[in-house]
Amino acid sequence: MHMHQFLAACFAPLLHITALKIGTSLQWIEHTPQPYAIKNFYKGASGASLSSGGVANLASDTSFDLAANAETQGLKQYAGHKNIRLIYIVCEVAYRIVANKAAGINTLADLKGKRIGTIPGTSAGVFVDKLLATAGLKTSDYTVVSGNVCMKTPCASGTFPQQIASKQIDAFGIWEPAVELAAQSLGSNAIIFQNASIYREVYSLYSTTDKLNDPAKRKDIVEFVRALNKTLDIFTNKPDTVYQTVASAVGMDASVVKAVWPDHKWTGTWGADLLPFLVEEDTYLAKKDNRATISKADLEKFLDTSIIAEL
Ligand SMILES: *[C@@H]1O[C@H](CO)[C@@H](O)[C@H](O)[C@H]1NC(C)=O
Ligand SMILES: *[C@@H]1O[C@H](CO)[C@@H](O)[C@H](O)[C@H]1NC(C)=O
Repeated sequence: MHMHQFLAACFAPLLHITALKIGTSLQWIEHTPQPYAIKNFYKGASGASLSSGGVANLASDTSFDLAANAETQGLKQYAGHKNIRLIYIVCEVAYRIVANKAAGINTLADLKGKRIGTIPGTSAGVFVDKLLATAGLKTSDYTVVSGNVCMKTPCASGTFPQQIASKQIDAFGIWEPAVELAAQSLGSNAIIFQNASIYREVYSLYSTTDKLNDPAKRKDIVEFVRALNKTLDIFTNKPDTVYQTVASAVGMDASVVKAVWPDHKWTGTWGADLLPFLVEEDTYLAKKDNRATISKADLEKFLDTSIIAEL
C-alpha cells in the first residue's frame, strides 16, 4: 500500500463513517439493479445498504441518502419537498393492461362498464386512467377493483391474475409480472393494451440537495450511480446473465423474467421529452390530490443531471 492510500484508509472512517442508505421497494423487478450494483461494482467509502422504502423516506428521514421509486411517487413528494432531486433513471416500463376477450373485450373502448383491477394512488392507477382516456373513457365509465400483485404461480386469492381467472374482474393494469402471468393463464383469451408514449413508469433514483451538497456524500452518490450505470449496461446487453439473479431477488421464475424483459428499458439518462411528460402527469396528480400544480420551472430543477455529468 502506498503512503497516501494508507493515510486515506486511516482517515476515511473519520471523515465519512456512514454507508449510503437507500430506500427502495425490495419486491419489484425495477429495483434489482441496485443490489446488483452494490454487490458487483460499488466502491464507495463505507458500503451501501438498501432499506425497504422509497422517495417518501427522503422527505421524512435525513438518514436516507438516496431512494428509488416511480416518477408518480417522486412528483407527489416533490410537491411538498422541493429539496428532492431526480438524479438518474433506473428503468422505464411500459405498463400493460390485460383483458379477457371472453368478457367481450377486443378494443380499449370495450372496457366501458367493465371491472378493472389496479392499485389507485400508484403509478398503475395513473396508467390505467390515462390509457383508458385515450379511448374516451372517464373514471366513472368503469369500476376500479383493488387487488394484489402476484410474482409467481400459483397466484393466491385476491391477486389480480386469480381475480381475472375467476371472472371477478374483466381486465387489470399493473407493473409486471402480474400481467404476464395472467396473459399466460388466459392463453388465447388474453388481449393486451399498452402505449409507452401515453404512459410508462419512469422508475428513478432520487436524492436531496442537502445530500448532493455534502462533498463526502456526493462522492459516494456519484460512485453508486457509476456502479448502477455499469449494471444497466449488463441488464441491457447481457440479460441472459441476470435473469436468474433477478428472479431470485424478487421471487419469480427466470422464464417469466425473460418474458417481461422487453417491457423494461434500463435507460439511465433522459431526453427532452421527460419534462413535458412530468408536467402532464403532475397536472393530473395535482387534480387528484387536490393540490396546486408544480411550476414548470420547479420541475426543471427537480431533474438534476449534475451527477450523470460527473460519471
Ligand atoms: C400511442 O399513442 C399515441 C398518441 O396518442 C398515438 O399516436 C399512437 O398511435 C399510439 N400507439 C399505439 C401503438 O396505439
Ligand atoms: C453509462 O454506461 C454506458 C455503457 O452502457 C456508457 O456508454 C455511458 O457513457 C455511461 N454513461 C456515463 C454518463 O458515463
